[in-house]
Amino acid sequence: MFDNQQINSIKGLETPFYYYDMALLEKTLDKAKNAADKHGFHVHYALKANFNKRILSLIQSKGFGADCVSGNEVSEAIATGFPASTITFAGVGKTDKEITTALEYQIFAFNVESIQEMEVIDELAGRLGHTARVSLRINPNVDAQTHHYITTGLDENKFGVPTSELEKAATAIRELKNIELVGLHFHIGSQITDLNVFKSLCVKVNEWKNWFEERGTVIKVLNVGGGLGVDYHNPDVNSIPDFEAYFDVFDRFLERTPRQEVHFELGRSLVAQCGNLVSRVLYTKSGVKKHFLILDAGMTELMRPALYQAYHKIERVSDENEEGVKLNYDVVGPICESSDSFGKEVSLPISKRGDLIAIRTAGAYGEVMASRYNLREEIRHVYSDSI
Ligand code: LLP
Repeated sequence: MFDNQQINSIKGLETPFYYYDMALLEKTLDKAKNAADKHGFHVHYALKANFNKRILSLIQSKGFGADCVSGNEVSEAIATGFPASTITFAGVGKTDKEITTALEYQIFAFNVESIQEMEVIDELAGRLGHTARVSLRINPNVDAQTHHYITTGLDENKFGVPTSELEKAATAIRELKNIELVGLHFHIGSQITDLNVFKSLCVKVNEWKNWFEERGTVIKVLNVGGGLGVDYHNPDVNSIPDFEAYFDVFDRFLERTPRQEVHFELGRSLVAQCGNLVSRVLYTKSGVKKHFLILDAGMTELMRPALYQAYHKIERVSDENEEGVKLNYDVVGPICESSDSFGKEVSLPISKRGDLIAIRTAGAYGEVMASRYNLREEIRHVYSDSI
């Protein structure tokens, strides 16, 4: 994955750091944008996946909107140059301060998650003399068939308004004077690799859209959330997700009038493959049954394996011939937690102290979820085009 020139340019750098392949990011964004434009679809980038400044700027420059989940993300999106008219604000626990910030910027829409939240937005908008545009997040009870920590569209999840409360929500929307309903919002989970799941989502969206329209409510926007998965096992073969196939599913199965807009909130699929966590072997260790590689990166830099038992491909970064004898290593970090492991029984060329190791597909939910636990250093990053 790294060519010799790249290896030469990173080999002397202090580790660990995130390495972002900006050319791949640009190619990915272009593919996604073209595939969406073909159908007139709107894509909001989910900042939560990665809000690294250069990444955000590039995404903004390509004409994506922004999907935010905190007041700070809304402010960051504005500071990066995303037009307020393309910003959505989601989340089950928006504070009054965050809602006020978003109202002052006059963002495109709040994705509201409960009737009580709608009442609070209505009150705060009234105080400012604004009308708040909202999309109602419906929990459609669709199984995203992904890890249970990142599935969000089931009845037992905390997200969205349960369908049993929609009658009440529709009444509230009619009665609250400082709120304008622009659309319906759905998001069923993340890292979804089976496109049939999105087909099932379309069926539910059609059903609830009709339900509202039968009651005389105009639905301008159908926001179907994010969730398109990436190939963690083959990052070089499938470095860019199949955006064409993904958008085609919605084009084919979503029933919409020509004036109805379809919006997406993609995070992972846009940024995951361009990021790698580069780390150095600090120590090698052989136990009775195991060989360990102890890295200078740990769960503090990339939390996904510890938190979700997530798989990331692990490779040695080397300009030497990688054929030769291999060993099965448990690749672990330096943090005082047994869960601080990146992979067990990983087949790697025999490695030594000082070797560079790349943990692949780490551009989404990597750097943003880093922590200072153990008073670790602030995570560093480098960009392929500026080293
Ligand atoms: N929209 C909403 C309402 C969301 O909750 C999310 C992600 C997205 C959009 C973007 O989804 P994406 O396209 O990235 O799948 N930290 C976890 C993932 C958490 C996803 C949370 N919501 C991980 O590392 O796998």
